[in-house]
Amino acid sequence: DTVLVLNGPNLNLLGKRQPEIYGRETLADVEALCRETAAGLGLRAECRQSNAEHVLIEAIHAFRVGTAGIVINAGAYTHTSVAILDALNACEVPVIECHISNVHRREAFRHHSYVSLAATAVLAGFGTHGYALAIRHLARLRARAGQ
Ligand code: DQA
Repeated sequence: DTVLVLNGPNLNLLGKRQPEIYGRETLADVEALCRETAAGLGLRAECRQSNAEHVLIEAIHAFRVGTAGIVINAGAYTHTSVAILDALNACEVPVIECHISNVHRREAFRHHSYVSLAATAVLAGFGTHGYALAIRHLARLRARAGQ
């Protein structure tokens, strides 16, 4: 089974962008962590990143059925995109929303998430380890569904 790990705008700059908030690990480091974590659970992580809303939406469409789920950090689109919410609402698989920073401790405009309206579970403030936690939860949901 495959999990989609989907990162949105500006996350390609991970490690260089505001390291005091997002840390020093790069996107490549995070994607390697995801692949390793998934492999250890008998899953395969397919990692994608885009700064373009429509590319993120098309990735969601490609993984919306028949997969173990989607881990999404939609970046700033979290707070703005009804189109991404609609795509996630079309998903038949679990969706885990993941934010590196604790968005609730930051500016008020980061407190509302469209993604949360479609998410099975939400992680914020766990740093890049949040992605590994999200994948572990998808593996658990999959094992439960198989019982
Ligand atoms: C983020 C939080 C968002 O508010 C921000 O726009 C991001 C990253 C996070 O991972 O903490 O780009 O999703």
